[in-house]
Amino acid sequence: MLGIVFTTLVDMLEEKISPEFADEVLVEAELKNEGAFTAVGYYPFSEMEKILTVLVNKTGQSADELLYGFGEYLFGVLAKAHGEVMTGKITILDVLESLDNDIHVQVRKLYPDADLPSFKVMSRTQNSIELEYHSQRDLFKLAEGLIDGAAKHLGNVVTHHVQSTNEPHTYIIRVDME
Ligand code: HEM
Repeated sequence: MLGIVFTTLVDMLEEKISPEFADEVLVEAELKNEGAFTAVGYYPFSEMEKILTVLVNKTGQSADELLYGFGEYLFGVLAKAHGEVMTGKITILDVLESLDNDIHVQVRKLYPDADLPSFKVMSRTQNSIELEYHSQRDLFKLAEGLIDGAAKHLGNVVTHHVQSTNEPHTYIIRVDME
């Protein structure tokens, strides 16, 4: 997993709780690199899972709630760092429709080893989209947070619904825009 995801999580903990809390979490997670992440490095996803486990214990929030909140925060950071990937996207539905064939393609050029999920467009109308999300990491809660973060960023109001499928690691995400 790309370092910017780790550095952003640490920044969020420092900002929303405190720098001391962020330090405690990294120490308790017993990470291989003791929490010294760089934005352009790559680290095993298992390190993120260790941090999440510590956060669940310390905050009493579920992993789903934590991932959702982190997704919302992460979108703002990614959009600020790489605003160019959002060029021409008017609504959240434009963003979601172009993840596989545009936004995450540009991300791959920036970070060649990025481990990106796939978001296949199953249907699209003026006010809704249905995507098939596939990732070995099952981070659909992070995706929901990213979607709400992006909607807020673009001034859209959305509702979304996730449904698992018979295929492993594969989910249908439906987003309706007001
Ligand atoms: C609503 C819009 C977006 C959604 C729903 C989305 C979804 C996701 C999800 C769910 C992941 C986690 C990896 C996984 O599931 O296995 C991810 C990773 C990532 N996305 Fe997106 N994304 C969005 C927009 C963006 C934008 C605007 C950027 C701009 C740079 C971006 C860059 C990345 C990067 C750098 C990663 C990390 C890859 C890695 O860890 O190796 N995404 N995205």
